[in-house]
Amino acid sequence: MLITGVSGLLGNNLAYYFKDKYEILGLYNSHPVTIDGIYTERCQLFQPDEIKRIISDYHPKIVIHCASLTNIDECEIDKDGTKKINVLATKNIVEAVRDRDVKLIYISSDSVYEGVKGDYSEDDRIGPQNYYGLSKYEGELEVFKKENALVFRTNIFGWNIQNKKSLGEWILGELKAKQRINGFKDAYFSTIYTMELARVIDISIKKDLTGLYNCGGLDPCSKYEFGLKIADCFGLDKTLITPISIDDSNFKAKRGKNLTLNVNKLQKGFDYRLPTINHSVEAFYRDYKCGLPEEIRRNQVEAQEKSVFIPYGRQWIDASDVQAVNTVMSSRRITQGPKVEEFEDALAEYCGAKHGVAVNSGTSALHIACCAAGVGEGNEVISSPITFVASTNCAVYCGAKPVFADIDKRTYNISPEEIEKRITERTRAIIPVHFAGQSCDMATISQVVRSAEKKYGHKIFIIEDACHALGSKYQNTQVGSSPFSDMTVLSFHPVKHITTGEGGAVLTNDEKLYRKLKRFRSHGITSTPGEFIYENLAFQASSVGRQPLMIPWYYEQVDLGYNYRITDIQCALGLSQLRKLHKFRDRRRKIVNRYNEAFSSIEPIRIPFESEDCDSNFHLYVLLFDFDQIGIQRTEFMNELKSRGVQTQVHYIPVHTQPYYQQNFGTKWGDYPNGEEYYQKCLSIPLFPAMTELDVERVINEITDLARGKS
Ligand SMILES: Cc1ncc(COP(=O)(O)O)c(C=O)c1O
Repeated sequence: MLITGVSGLLGNNLAYYFKDKYEILGLYNSHPVTIDGIYTERCQLFQPDEIKRIISDYHPKIVIHCASLTNIDECEIDKDGTKKINVLATKNIVEAVRDRDVKLIYISSDSVYEGVKGDYSEDDRIGPQNYYGLSKYEGELEVFKKENALVFRTNIFGWNIQNKKSLGEWILGELKAKQRINGFKDAYFSTIYTMELARVIDISIKKDLTGLYNCGGLDPCSKYEFGLKIADCFGLDKTLITPISIDDSNFKAKRGKNLTLNVNKLQKGFDYRLPTINHSVEAFYRDYKCGLPEEIRRNQVEAQEKSVFIPYGRQWIDASDVQAVNTVMSSRRITQGPKVEEFEDALAEYCGAKHGVAVNSGTSALHIACCAAGVGEGNEVISSPITFVASTNCAVYCGAKPVFADIDKRTYNISPEEIEKRITERTRAIIPVHFAGQSCDMATISQVVRSAEKKYGHKIFIIEDACHALGSKYQNTQVGSSPFSDMTVLSFHPVKHITTGEGGAVLTNDEKLYRKLKRFRSHGITSTPGEFIYENLAFQASSVGRQPLMIPWYYEQVDLGYNYRITDIQCALGLSQLRKLHKFRDRRRKIVNRYNEAFSSIEPIRIPFESEDCDSNFHLYVLLFDFDQIGIQRTEFMNELKSRGVQTQVHYIPVHTQPYYQQNFGTKWGDYPNGEEYYQKCLSIPLFPAMTELDVERVINEITDLARGKS
């Protein structure tokens, strides 16, 4: 079930009501919400592609469209904004579900009626007195373009999770605080409690009701009388309510005085007696006594707390990911099944590579890539000092010596000129790291390597460490297609572009390397004829045919490999995530553009340089700060940001300065000045697709405030 407007009164209350009956995805626009047991996602419904993608990703069976601007006076002032949300968004939803087997339920309003005679039935002429009513009616017209749609015209009260209050809550709050309030004695309506409306919707789904229905309380009353009912039921002082005429208030938008609904059609439709307003108020009271409002709001508080602290990176897992994992969990094979290959093929296809081998981490991927390249004792492997230790540890695992080549000051990537200086006859492999997402200068690196190969007369492998660069492009081709390298390595750690929990992969266009990689992933074992050392032992003569029979249990260990296998559970997640990579990429780019705009004019800050050859799918957004100019140490700067809810991180402490490297390979501070200078100034600030606009603006404000504050 998909519910739009899940941060609003009705959407939220419906999600609450239905959460144990359906798997629910709730959509919000600007107010993130979490509700235990339901998935929520941001969607700008007025963008047709966003809702289309959600419908095709989740294929809901039921869509309840509650999202709407409902403040009648604000709608009157902002007609364009109202049209966008109440009409255009509805149109987009209808278009997204029109040709699908989806039950579409639209929540309209009593405001579509003129509000003069009252007891309106569905056949009565519409005559909205304000733009809100008109926009809801136009929404209905859109909805009926979908066959078998269901529309309820209603008027509700219930429990808000935002700071807004519906009429019932407002009256209750004021009376409890012993405040005097006015109640309109001449404005009549047929209001219904949200949880009662939820029950009606529940039954209507079961009975497959279609068409247009009024839905409201059976015994209409004035808003003043409604106040009295609440005071009575909650045992509050009803003399605090003063009856006045609606004519005495100065609303921006006109309102009908008698919007009472005739609900006979609905009652006949499914043989159900709708609640009286008294009944609704009693249910409202019962839920209040059971602590429902607090429970509903607690979700929101928790959501706010979650967004109060903004980490530097994190995954985006949604309902479709969970669904994908669940499917594998309840299947026969949870590891070494079909999902691994499916994921490998999808990765290879996305990146434009011939083969993919998925493993349980980026580190394992680097290790098997080195193994496949034959890295071993006596060899040297060149990489960047500005990377995660895994980029060079993989060489050490194989018994080789790690060698560093300094970075380019502009891109922070390994410099081809520095590689050239470091290549020796012992060099077996180069591991260029596409730092933060931007590809290294692969064309020049490959030239340098090719001429060194000629000079030394042996192959030098190029293994791209693209753990930061899935979805990036270099010279208009996808990173991973490896036109300048032998293999490309990816990581699916949760802070990366897509996640499998932990995971990684090696991509290659070379069949031989591919076979080796598969073997190193799994103990160095093969069951593939053609790869056997003792081929004759794999077969025995057949007693029936001429062809010898392959011995079914036969396998050989031909290398010393590892258990670096990834599970089907993880690959199902990876596949589901990969389908969303384009969306993650767009979102990262949008945030980066906003950051660039915000930080480029702040003097002690340097924004990332983007090379013309590259189109980075920014994994990290690294700013260089002149902390001396700002007059604050980096530690204080980070701590202060943290206390304001913004996590930053340093990527990375130069690998050659790590004690293990200093002690075992004799490297020291001062060896790689560009990398070390970069390290003194760098700070990665939050960047992940699930960041809201508000998160982004908060990060900008806190950082600019601090960077400007003392400079
Ligand atoms: C550049 C680089 N290479 C390799 C790795 C190792 O990947 P994993 O954490 O999946 O083992 C990382 C992880 O952060 C990384 O940043």
